[in-house]
Amino acid sequence: MATVLLRELTTSDLEAAVAIETAVYSQPWSKGVFEDELAQPNRVYLGVDVDGRLGGYGGVMLVGDEAHITTVVVHPDHRQGRLGTRVMLGLVDAALDAGARSLTLEVRSSNTAAQGLYRRFGMAPVGVRKGYYLDEDAVIMWAHDVDGSEYSERLAAIREGML
Ligand SMILES: CC(C)(COP(=O)(O)OP(=O)(O)OC[C@H]1O[C@@H](n2cnc3c(N)ncnc32)[C@H](O)[C@@H]1OP(=O)(O)O)[C@@H](O)C(=O)NCCC(=O)NCCS
Repeated sequence: MATVLLRELTTSDLEAAVAIETAVYSQPWSKGVFEDELAQPNRVYLGVDVDGRLGGYGGVMLVGDEAHITTVVVHPDHRQGRLGTRVMLGLVDAALDAGARSLTLEVRSSNTAAQGLYRRFGMAPVGVRKGYYLDEDAVIMWAHDVDGSEYSERLAAIREGML
């Protein structure tokens, strides 16, 4: 069985992260974009290793009591193996530690896989940003009261499914 480890994403991961971006997106984040993101004080970036190699990563921007998920990406070879869920669990934990009360993000309207992942985390579509991706609209998703007991039960249930 593969060894999976969730940890902080660091500048030494950026070559591997850009390789994953390039495999996944037509307009990938560059090393410079990652460097700028990692340097911001109000960001948390996590990477997940599979047998010692970067298999995915994600980030969150913390503004007041809102946590804005900036990205979640899993290497195509490791999809639907719960790595995206692991990264999200880590990001939500970090957001809660920082005092977040709600989670938000934008996602391509055609991206049903990612929307499924976010729905599992209690995020619901609340609106559309027209032309957000130039070629496509974004769906805006939110989860509120993530510091409450109901949400902590949801997280516990997700964690249980990870065992
Ligand atoms: C979205 C993404 C991160 C999901 O990662 P993953 O590790 O494959 O997801 P998980 O195995 O943790 O799946 C969690 C849930 O997401 C949803 N999901 C994931 N892949 C799916 C797919 N191909 N089709 C439908 N739903 C899917 C399901 O609800 C799934 O729960 P289930 O297995 O109980 O049905 C991954 O598909 C990816 O990297 N996509 C490209 C980058 C991207 O679009 N990122 C999001 C940008 S906003």
